[in-house]
Amino acid sequence: MRKSLLAVGLLLLSFPGFAQSNPPIAVIPQPVYLLQGKGYFTFSGKLSIIFSGDEEIRKIAGHLATRIEKASGIKPVIKKGTAAEPNSIFLKTAGSRAGSPAPGGYTLEVTPKTITLVSLPMNPAGMFHGVQTLLQLFPKEIESNTHLSPRQWKIPVVTIQDSPRFGWRGLMLDVSRHFFTVPQVKDYIDQMVKYKFNLLHLHLTDDQGWRLQIKSLPKLTEVGAWRVEKTGTFGRFSPPAADEPRTYGGFYTHEDIKEIVRYAAERYVDILPEIDFPGHSLAALASYPELSCTPGTYAVNSGEQFMIWPGGGQHFYGTLDNTLCPANEKVYDFIDKVFTEVAQLFPFGYIHMGGDETARNFWEKTEQIKALMQKEKLKDLDEVQSYFVKRVEKIINAKGKKMIGWDEILQGGLAPNAAVMSWRGMKGGIEAAKQGHEVVMSPTDFAYIDYMQGDAVLEPPVYASLRLKKAYQFEPLPEGVDPALIKGGQANLWTEQVYNMRHAQYMTWPRGFAIAEALWSPKEKRNWNDFVSRVERHFERLDAAAVKYAPSMYDAIFEVSKKDTATIIVKLATEIEGLSVHYSFDNSFPDNFYPAYSTPLTVPKDAAAMKVITYRDNKPVGRLMVMPVAELKKRAGIK
Ligand code: ACM
Repeated sequence: MRKSLLAVGLLLLSFPGFAQSNPPIAVIPQPVYLLQGKGYFTFSGKLSIIFSGDEEIRKIAGHLATRIEKASGIKPVIKKGTAAEPNSIFLKTAGSRAGSPAPGGYTLEVTPKTITLVSLPMNPAGMFHGVQTLLQLFPKEIESNTHLSPRQWKIPVVTIQDSPRFGWRGLMLDVSRHFFTVPQVKDYIDQMVKYKFNLLHLHLTDDQGWRLQIKSLPKLTEVGAWRVEKTGTFGRFSPPAADEPRTYGGFYTHEDIKEIVRYAAERYVDILPEIDFPGHSLAALASYPELSCTPGTYAVNSGEQFMIWPGGGQHFYGTLDNTLCPANEKVYDFIDKVFTEVAQLFPFGYIHMGGDETARNFWEKTEQIKALMQKEKLKDLDEVQSYFVKRVEKIINAKGKKMIGWDEILQGGLAPNAAVMSWRGMKGGIEAAKQGHEVVMSPTDFAYIDYMQGDAVLEPPVYASLRLKKAYQFEPLPEGVDPALIKGGQANLWTEQVYNMRHAQYMTWPRGFAIAEALWSPKEKRNWNDFVSRVERHFERLDAAAVKYAPSMYDAIFEVSKKDTATIIVKLATEIEGLSVHYSFDNSFPDNFYPAYSTPLTVPKDAAAMKVITYRDNKPVGRLMVMPVAELKKRAGIK
């Protein structure tokens, strides 16, 4: 009797479509409300996408159909209609009745027969975001070209109501230090919209390259877009010889930018252009040296050191003058020309003027600056910088755009209409908001995705670290400020050490998931363990999509100290739960038959290296870490 009941149970469990409990749904960012039901919607051979609404909604239906067809080989029929039908996905624009989705939001109802996605008529972005959620409910093969049979395309029954916490959900890509092509930028956009990012900030100019065609200033790209190609650790390269070819680089033509802007707009992404002034301007000066307070011969930087950071902190100076001269009227004519074209090319309402890390040690010494200070009654170099920023704001405002800048634009007094992007922590953003200015939060401590995401013995070297768990603690809205002024936040990918798009992906994911969730989901829904389980499901999707990501959350964490004067003590931990950490001191490769870490370890006196690896369920999940004892000594402070 028992045996036959078990047999029936097993039979029912293996029967597709039987109303058993489905595995938990894993959507990133976590929706506001999600109630999972039982059973599945399954494709029939004749899937249709019905839409109510205008041409824009039809285009979103087309986007969904393309994704489905590419992955499944099933070509959905797209038609206009007013009601769902069996085997259909219905994209419905509902009126402004109470309870309808907020701007950017949507509701999604999956039943065994139909899928209904609803957004406000004036809110196609909500429909687009809803489509992204729906695609996350599909089997992971939707991300690949693996054709499952129609019955295998199962979408779990669920009710979702969702809307974003912040309107500005950004990623910044530095295309100056390393150049990324138009197809690569489009691919980056494709990946970011899956996680409901809606803004791509392009850092278009820096000391290492000017990446935007300015037709009235042709040398910017004839000269400024090219440097000597170097490989290794950026910032530590030997200075290039005068005859080394300057063949590395590239730039976006006006046509390229129009193409990127159009592609982004079709995916509800705004492009924020950044032209970084008055510092970070070697590429501009290599093209037009007369814009410096110290005219001479300049070259685009190829990764050799020229900024010095005593103590590694906020203080710095340049061994080269990489700044535009605030006392030179030609500089403002130049900036006017640049922003005339920038304003025409980029429809987004804001232009970013940089403003960060301006080394002023050359300003200090020039007669021109001293004369400007006297004339304009500027009492220090902060005020000189502020004078410059205020003039730049006037230029930008005259083009019908709002100005945003890094938080250094607060120094010496904020320009009257400026928005602030707070990167040196949150304090600049808080101060700006208290002064009544708009703010975007992108603090280094939580949102700098150029930083290493694990231990320096494994990760490509960068001067600081940001683990996934820390990124997941990003809270963009500080207490005590007007929430209406905090527009949102973004993660920034500086690319000094990012030589190619595969590595850009590695640096972006999964920390991009954490930032997406901080910017979209309700604060009270934040749950690290639940997030990790969803991240793991999305790793499978990234694998299917052939997008690289960092597995650093599986690697061990070292905490090193000393006992007496010469004994090294190592504590090991993991970022996520449920892993065991195995180690060796005898140079052999540890596996799960080696000792599992439980209490602090004393490093044997004559050991040369400690090797560490993490396991889960008898399978290696982390990467092998080889920690030289010399490095442990350094970390312990033993000479
Ligand atoms: C910055 O990271 N220099 C804005």
